[in-house]
Amino acid sequence: MELRHLRYFVTVADEQNFTRAAERLNMAQPPLSRQIQQLEEELGVALIVKGARPVRLTEAGTFFHAHAQELLAKAADLKAMTRRVGAIERKLSIGFVASTLYGLLPEIVRRYREQYQEVEISFNELTTMEQLKALKDGRIDVGFGRLKFEDAAIRRIVLREEPLIVALPVGHRLAQAAGPLKMSDLMQDTLIVYPKAPRPSFADQVLATFRDRMLVPQQVLEVRELQIAIGLVGAGQGIAIVPDSLQGMIRTDVCYRPIDDRQAVSPIIFSARAMDRSQELVNMLAVIYAIYEERGIPHTAQEL
Ligand code: BEZ
Repeated sequence: MELRHLRYFVTVADEQNFTRAAERLNMAQPPLSRQIQQLEEELGVALIVKGARPVRLTEAGTFFHAHAQELLAKAADLKAMTRRVGAIERKLSIGFVASTLYGLLPEIVRRYREQYQEVEISFNELTTMEQLKALKDGRIDVGFGRLKFEDAAIRRIVLREEPLIVALPVGHRLAQAAGPLKMSDLMQDTLIVYPKAPRPSFADQVLATFRDRMLVPQQVLEVRELQIAIGLVGAGQGIAIVPDSLQGMIRTDVCYRPIDDRQAVSPIIFSARAMDRSQELVNMLAVIYAIYEERGIPHTAQEL
């Protein structure tokens, strides 16, 4: 049994269809079916229910699928890590969600650059879910995101839980309200959420924050990205719930108000490949925690 057999089987199981799987694998369907047959012969058990459309896995197939996925993730991890260990130049490729750019990310990077001038840093704006794939593919080495996804191949640390705030157009009836706003005060407004795709995303985190409080926004507008959401708030199309660091995005047509709910938070999550214990990452974490300490920002080091 070779790694390619695992890849063939996982693709068929994911697509639930031989034709689509063959297309994804850039091969014809008959050789793909033969490879799966050979795999079943070697294992001495059926992995796929004969004749089922869409493709359905047997109990043995379901077991094999879960473990094959893990092995493939480990193989990808091993490839990326071996390249990283062997690289002569020290490099650190950072994936980040856009909102972190308005908070501490620029300062963290400036500080890291000053202290570790030999490391070449590059940046990729990616959603949390895109970071997951980019880490596995070796396109980034660290991701800063906001969703608590599950994946055995990725090490995740919650750095801190950032308060959520409300972005309002300047002339809004609540813009001048004294004190923090209640989430229930926001029900009459169109709630603008981002990003629309891929899901789950920060949009789902915001919607869950309302749902957990038994609140249903009257109207929800889903937009592609943060800058569009804030632009539409400025245009008076609605309000948006955003992380506190967004106050760093100063616009004359938008104001920000705190929320009277300490549980309304969004985590900032550090993600890296599970095997990656490189000095670059150790140093990056040290820089982040030093900045939190200096600024008195409450933080955690909770490994998920
Ligand atoms: C923060 O705001 O806490 C943060 C932003 C980017 C990377 C790490 C931490």
